[in-house]
Amino acid sequence: MNEITVLGIFVADISFSGPKIPNTGETILGDSYNIGPGGKGCNQAIAIARLGGKVNFISKLGNDDYGKLAIDKLKKNNINTSNIIISNEHKTGVAGIHVDKNTGKNAITVVRGAPSSLTIKEIDTKLIKQSKIFLTQLEIQIEVTLHCLKAAKEYGLINILNPAPACKLSSDFFNLIDYFTPNETEAEFYTGIKINNENDAKVCAKKLTDMGIKKVIITLGEKGLFYSDGKEEIYLKASADKALDTTGAGDAFNGGFAFALLKGKKIKECLEIANKVAGFSTTKLGAGDSMPTLKDINLKV
Ligand code: RIB
Repeated sequence: MNEITVLGIFVADISFSGPKIPNTGETILGDSYNIGPGGKGCNQAIAIARLGGKVNFISKLGNDDYGKLAIDKLKKNNINTSNIIISNEHKTGVAGIHVDKNTGKNAITVVRGAPSSLTIKEIDTKLIKQSKIFLTQLEIQIEVTLHCLKAAKEYGLINILNPAPACKLSSDFFNLIDYFTPNETEAEFYTGIKINNENDAKVCAKKLTDMGIKKVIITLGEKGLFYSDGKEEIYLKASADKALDTTGAGDAFNGGFAFALLKGKKIKECLEIANKVAGFSTTKLGAGDSMPTLKDINLKV
């Protein structure tokens, strides 16, 4: 039985690390590059699997070299690929990522390719039924995402939505969500509240729980994170790791959080584990390739 099902995209991330993110019309000389697994869903699935969680990854790939790279990486991480559709009509997607090596900050363009054509008919809801947690983002078409969230709720799973990239959601989404995990920019998109301090985060989380979401975790980058379920509130500082590349840190956080929840940890410990996983992921170039094992973060569960 696979315990967590992740719906999302795989793209090949082509990351360039250099002294800065180039301006429009500018050419700069970079220092290093990495071609590896990316796409929020794939990164989250890898994060869970590397920690030792059993994962189904639902997605779509092209019948091409990057598609083969995806299957190879997913299988090496023991991720169940039985609901990955291989398309002969669409290419596997790619993301071009510029990373400033001094701050670890990035600029990303994602061309989703094959998974942008994933349909409801192609979803094997049996896999969702077998799981305890359903984790997804907003890189797959909204109607497919909504269909899976509804199926997961019907089967009694815990639903985690990482609402990235931010896009308008209908109100029927919010009642299906147990954990909503925006970063501060996404939280502002959904509430109109700009977060400058802990109090702003509280007000923002309150607005989200008033919309029908059960529990909210707002990640605040180097400022840490804020959690609220409408009663209990937790504020945690960010991990102290020196960031080389923050690409995929949010995915590491979501994967780490889902894994800790699956292991039955209390909320504060889930957040601490997710924070550690995210911190470690920023110390390496790349997204999916930078996810830690339990040993890497000195954790026993
Ligand atoms: O969250 C980071 C990811 O977003 C990258 O891996 C990139 O592919 C985009 O999907």
